[in-house]
Amino acid sequence: MKSYVNLAVLAVLVASLYGPVVRELTVLGVFRSATGAVSHQGAPMHTIADTIHCEDLHYYRPAGQLFTACEDSVLPRFQWFPPVVTFKGPADTTGSIHVIDPKTMKSSRLTFENFSGPFLTHGIDITEDPERTDAVYIFAVNHLANPEYRGGDEPKARSQVELFHHVLNSGTIRHLRSIRHPLVTTPNDIYAVSPHSFYVTNDHLYREGYKRLVENLLPVAKWSTVIHVQLDSLAPSPAESGVDAMVAVEGLWNSNGLGHGPSQEEVLLTSAMGGYLWRMRPNDNRTLSLVDEFAFDSTIDNPSYYQDPYRTADDDASGYVLGGLLRAVELDKTRTQPEATDGVMVWYLRRHPGTMEWEKRLIFEDDGSRIRSASTALLVPKDSVAGEKKAWLFVTGFFSEAMIAVEVTL
Ligand SMILES: *[C@@H]1O[C@H](CO)[C@@H](O)[C@H](O)[C@H]1NC(C)=O
Ligand SMILES: *[C@@H]1O[C@H](CO)[C@@H](O)[C@H](O)[C@H]1NC(C)=O
Ligand SMILES: *[C@@H]1O[C@H](CO)[C@@H](O)[C@H](O)[C@H]1NC(C)=O
Repeated sequence: MKSYVNLAVLAVLVASLYGPVVRELTVLGVFRSATGAVSHQGAPMHTIADTIHCEDLHYYRPAGQLFTACEDSVLPRFQWFPPVVTFKGPADTTGSIHVIDPKTMKSSRLTFENFSGPFLTHGIDITEDPERTDAVYIFAVNHLANPEYRGGDEPKARSQVELFHHVLNSGTIRHLRSIRHPLVTTPNDIYAVSPHSFYVTNDHLYREGYKRLVENLLPVAKWSTVIHVQLDSLAPSPAESGVDAMVAVEGLWNSNGLGHGPSQEEVLLTSAMGGYLWRMRPNDNRTLSLVDEFAFDSTIDNPSYYQDPYRTADDDASGYVLGGLLRAVELDKTRTQPEATDGVMVWYLRRHPGTMEWEKRLIFEDDGSRIRSASTALLVPKDSVAGEKKAWLFVTGFFSEAMIAVEVTL
């Protein structure tokens, strides 16, 4: 997710500074409104209670459960959310890690052990505990205020990553440690490699001001990075101790979401403002190399990969799912408005089983009335009846008051 810009500034700046504007205007949705073509009006749909502003969502297949980090109340995000340059609030509120059962569509907050916040939520990732299969480690970005901010040039936020341990179905989650490193400045999303190592995106170089605006607008502003972090120890320790970090990728335009591909050999990375999905390959030296790039017609956020459990050689619905905004151009206005709406677009990209050509289609669209904003979308399989593949499409956003699950046919 991003900080966006108002239309007038956009039109003037982009038109005067940068030639090929058509793609950017398309991605931002400047001339777009919801068409209703893939809105699935009337399809079975659930609105999941107590899922406020859950930016990220992860399907943990071994347990058949979804994990997410949400705010505990609605208003704080419109006062404090560094990723969209909102720095008004005291940043002293709490969020929770939730588990969602896709069968009952119930969300429950895990009770923290040894952690009392503040917890200003954003991207998370989850990785199995190698020592016990009924437990997981969860990394979560926490956008804390900078205790050293004195009203000068110091950054207002001092974001860090929290590491938790959760025994499946226990109802509780134990905080192990916080993780902070000078290279991790504007963390957005996380890709866990193991409990001891992860990748994290810095979505911007600049935290606010006109340089950040430039960074949002100009594709040549390739100033964002992905950082690889390695931990010496998972035991309780000061946030900065035993943390080794290095730049895994640099020279990216607004690197944002991270997700898991079909194997460990594939790290999914997106450019939110660019509307790109990049498939990356991890190298032995902790860097990531670009494999290929796909362009979408909207901003996109956290990518996910759907593995079709009913796949056969000539019928495979496995593919990538990406959520984004219908009109990102409005976000600069709506980001401080609790009552506003932000429409969504969800894309589905897969290889056609016959021709092996990539095919990309819009799988869901909403004008913001059923879900406000989308930062993550993922598919959970339903039963395959008479060869018709149906799945629950979960959509959640950084401004969504509640997550939805809508039935789609793949
Ligand atoms: C979003 O990114 C997080 C962090 O990398 C990852 O755990 C999660 O799987 C992604 N979401 C989806 C739907 O894949
Ligand atoms: C709780 O956190 C404190 C401070 O980080 C640490 O010293 C203590 O060992 C932790 N306790 C448990 C049960 O994890
Ligand atoms: C890391 O490894 C990749 C692939 O082998 C190579 O292209 C790249 O130059 C290496 N980078 C560094 C910093 O060593």
